[in-house]
Amino acid sequence: MVEEMRVNYRDGGRINIPNNNMPLELLINWIEEARTKKLIEANAICLSTIDDNGNPQSRMVLVKYINNFEIGFFTNLGSNKASEINANKNVSGVMFWPEMERQVRITGIASLMPRDKVLDYHRSRPRESQIAAFTSMQSRPLKSLDHLIKEFHDTELEFKDKEIPLPDHWGGYVIKISSIEYWSGRPSRLHERMVLKIQGSEWSERRLYP
Ligand SMILES: Cc1cc2nc3c(=O)[nH]c(=O)nc-3n(C[C@H](O)[C@H](O)[C@H](O)COP(=O)(O)O)c2cc1C
Repeated sequence: MVEEMRVNYRDGGRINIPNNNMPLELLINWIEEARTKKLIEANAICLSTIDDNGNPQSRMVLVKYINNFEIGFFTNLGSNKASEINANKNVSGVMFWPEMERQVRITGIASLMPRDKVLDYHRSRPRESQIAAFTSMQSRPLKSLDHLIKEFHDTELEFKDKEIPLPDHWGGYVIKISSIEYWSGRPSRLHERMVLKIQGSEWSERRLYP
């Protein structure tokens, strides 16, 4: 079955890096283009961390903050990914937009996001998301789905007519990018790949075989 599945890429668009020292500019443009095209979860990234046994662990998170050198996401600070980052700050990630025939891979160094940025984002979230973040002990064993739903409603009652405070166990991480690879699909598997890497304070650019 899977051996018969095949996509012929046509045109992910040429990769153009006008300024090496703005390594995430194209990523910002690609995410914006995906958003304009109304692609679902256009800001989702598969984030990999390293656990205590040296095993890579991957999961999706949403990129909620981006500038020219950093991307950021929010999560539970007691989660597996958080304890993995606290022990080893080296992370990598990959984003893929099949409809646009584009992929982006990043590596970088993760660090805790300042609390004032987390608070700003927390305040901007829908109340249900705030309650869910307050209630969830992400990545810990859960008795049953009913138990989670009950805890959600208990939190809702506890804070009836009040603001949901920013929970201590919820926050964000910022990834300072050390390399980024742009991939764009082309006919006959002649895809385009361009890697930007930081070397000292300069960004180098290199084209790779597909
Ligand atoms: C599309 C998508 C987006 C997600 N975004 C987030 C996110 O922004 N933050 C988060 O903590 N979990 C997010 N999750 C859930 C994670 O993939 C994961 O299940 C959870 O964070 C626990 O991971 P961990 O045990 O490795 O810490 C998302 C899942 C999906 C499918």
